[in-house]
Amino acid sequence: MTARRPPSAPNATPRRYSFERYLAAKRTVDDRALNAHVWQALADAAAGRASQASVQVLELGAGIGTMAERLLDRGLLPRMEYTGIEAQAKLAQRAGRRLRAWARRRRYDLSGQGNRLVLRRGSQETRLTFRTGDVLKLAPGLRGRAEVLLSHAFLDLLDLPTALPVLLATLRPGGLFHFSLNFDGVTAFEPAIDPALDGAIESLYHRTMDERRVDGRLSGDSRTGRHLFAALRAAGAQVQAAGASDWVVTPTGGGYPGDEAYFLHFIVHTLERALRPRPELDGRLLTRWVERRHRQIERGELTYIAHQLDVFGRVRGRAVSPSAPRTTRRP
Ligand SMILES: C[S@@+](CC[C@H](N)C(=O)[O-])C[C@H]1O[C@@H](n2cnc3c(N)ncnc32)[C@H](O)[C@@H]1O
Repeated sequence: MTARRPPSAPNATPRRYSFERYLAAKRTVDDRALNAHVWQALADAAAGRASQASVQVLELGAGIGTMAERLLDRGLLPRMEYTGIEAQAKLAQRAGRRLRAWARRRRYDLSGQGNRLVLRRGSQETRLTFRTGDVLKLAPGLRGRAEVLLSHAFLDLLDLPTALPVLLATLRPGGLFHFSLNFDGVTAFEPAIDPALDGAIESLYHRTMDERRVDGRLSGDSRTGRHLFAALRAAGAQVQAAGASDWVVTPTGGGYPGDEAYFLHFIVHTLERALRPRPELDGRLLTRWVERRHRQIERGELTYIAHQLDVFGRVRGRAVSPSAPRTTRRP
């Protein structure tokens, strides 16, 4: 086995891990992964609301705010009143700081304080708020407020049958949802180390997702993508577009793009943390496997694939007319 690279070397295995940096590194991976057909369905429906003074957008599990950036970068809802809800206060605060810096770089006229920002450019005004809280606890207070409900790399952390009806109820009649990067039961690392061990690690990792508990209740599903369809139907929602949004990270032109080597090290580290307490797997085998995966990243040899699905649709009821008077308060 080769010696560890110094931490400053390209692709080096980090000594410490930061979830914030992981979320930032994930941005380019996600941009490639998002299903273009499903995104276009959202964009077409959003264009139908373009004449509104403001569109109420609610994002669940917003992390450091990369989806809000993406919406603006892609010009999807230039006049929106966006609220992102995130359980971890430090991430919600980071989102406020990140979006502020992002807006300055793009020369928006910027006002607002802390986690509330107002971005203006010409006749376009975007209001962004990053709130700290548990979406399942806050959702009842937001009933019927949102016109567009977003989640990205999030729903697989929940118990879909109980969570979906609560979350969809935040939408107004006829409201739209775009739920992206819903994990769907395939993790692959290439090249193989030992196919039997690779397979055992993959299935045990998925089992940790299925057995995840929050406040004593099961919360998480390694096949959320495929289970979404029946759960949405049961909750009275209509799917209008669906497609794959797999993460595929592979060295191109001799290295990994952006900060994607860090993203890969973080994924391997996450697997290690999930599997270390499991008695089903010999700890020494896990240690060796993890070491070898980190070395493959350092040498620019590892390819990682995670299968995920995106869905877009709407809830029943007539959409509120764009010309109807509305408040511009956040949902
Ligand atoms: C995998 S991260 C994705 C974050 C962001 N959507 C992104 O893709 O960059 C999931 C996020 O959901 C947050 N989260 C988990 N459960 C939550 C809950 N019940 N309410 C609000 N946020 C939650 C986590 O803190 C984490 O930041």
